[in-house]
Amino acid sequence: MRVDDPETVSAAPDGRPAEAQPRWRRDFPVDGPADEFRSRREFTGLLLLTSLAFAAGQLWIVGLRAFKGAHGSSPVLDVAGVDELPPGGMKVFEYPTKADPCVLVRLADGSFVAYDRRCTHLSCPVIPRPAAGRLDCPCHNGHFDLATGAPLAGPPRRPLPRVTLEIRRGRIVATGLSVEGGRRAEAS
Ligand code: FES
Repeated sequence: MRVDDPETVSAAPDGRPAEAQPRWRRDFPVDGPADEFRSRREFTGLLLLTSLAFAAGQLWIVGLRAFKGAHGSSPVLDVAGVDELPPGGMKVFEYPTKADPCVLVRLADGSFVAYDRRCTHLSCPVIPRPAAGRLDCPCHNGHFDLATGAPLAGPPRRPLPRVTLEIRRGRIVATGLSVEGGRRAEAS
């Protein structure tokens, strides 16, 4: 059926002939088919617009990632001198921003590790216990391995984000943050 045919466009939604329709419908005829009608051109245009909007969204995301790759490298922060911390010693600092509390610990073998201090359960600050080889969270009795940041006991299920470290001219330098852990910085 051609909906633009003048003989067929004026049909009430219930399909009954005009004589059978109530008075109000005769006064205000409802053109059912025309009301539902979308031309092929309109539909193609709508499809094209939707596709363009989707493509533009994807390009925006790709562009943002490329921009971040070029300009979003991790900051480098001088945290402490190698000789500043004896084995078992620690120092709190903020990295990568002033709102991110971290802690640097020197292990018994002389290497260094650093972690984001926010417990991966509900973000209470963890406390390093070098003698026990753990970081403890007092809020719900959570425990993390000091050497790896892996959860050992309690509610936390994810490891502590680890600050990647390098030793440059006798200084411990933070170079990035890894949620999967990283290598220790070995002091030579
Ligand atoms: S916040 Fe650390 S165990 Fe709950």
